[in-house]
Amino acid sequence: MTTLSGPTNDLLHKFPNLYEQVFSISTAPTCIELFQSVAETLPRSALDIGSGPGRELADLAEMDIDCVGVDFVPMMVDYARTNYPKVEFVHGDMREVRLNRTFDMITILGACINYMLENADLEKALATVMAHCHNDTLVIVEPYNTSSFVGTRTPPVEYVIPDGEFKAVGRAEYEWLQKDQVIHRTRTWRFSDGREDIQDSYHQRLYFAKELEYFFEKNGFRVIDTVERQQSAVYDKSLFLLATPRT
Ligand SMILES: C[S@@+](CC[C@H](N)C(=O)[O-])C[C@H]1O[C@@H](n2cnc3c(N)ncnc32)[C@H](O)[C@@H]1O
Repeated sequence: MTTLSGPTNDLLHKFPNLYEQVFSISTAPTCIELFQSVAETLPRSALDIGSGPGRELADLAEMDIDCVGVDFVPMMVDYARTNYPKVEFVHGDMREVRLNRTFDMITILGACINYMLENADLEKALATVMAHCHNDTLVIVEPYNTSSFVGTRTPPVEYVIPDGEFKAVGRAEYEWLQKDQVIHRTRTWRFSDGREDIQDSYHQRLYFAKELEYFFEKNGFRVIDTVERQQSAVYDKSLFLLATPRT
């Protein structure tokens, strides 16, 4: 069995086209709906941090929004540049990247914020967000909906790459590093065409909604709202935190 490990080195990050097949629903319409629940217009510009394959920004660019994406994994940036040439994609780390401009909307979607394992990492990421805000910027963050993982529920155990070139099912097992609020996922992919299994793994920090709100308020933001939406076929309800700089 081939093993892939590292914080963002799982199968779907190495092959962004597979990521797009598993997470097939764009979050762009939800972002526009949330933006318009606060502002009456469309954003003129959007920064997506942890932009991954780039689909959300491609959808926003179709609405004539000036879009920039930042991602840490070179394969994701290369894929996004090749597939969505209307959008600028930058290779960078959300803890330190500076583009020297501001945006009307800044998004961190698809649990990217959960790669911030330590409080200090999260605060660096929030400083990056703040560095790209003007007074009216709306920040939309989609962390894991941690509350939906506790009690009788669990994080997703099955990920499906649907029929295409091949079909694959990834079965996930989780270990909780409770003291650190870190979840360690090990996922084994079985392929329909008989190729060798692949096992991948990653670590992510779990933040409860109120905890994330606290960090935003502490780092100069005003939290406008935290809302739930049924966004993805993979996760139970997704959580969206809306914030703006405190002026
Ligand atoms: C699960 S994907 C989400 C992609 C996309 N935002 C979506 O919602 O479908 C997480 C993305 O976060 C990126 N990422 C992880 N750590 C990062 C960091 N420190 N800075 C920027 N991007 C990061 C990964 O490379 C990956 O593309």
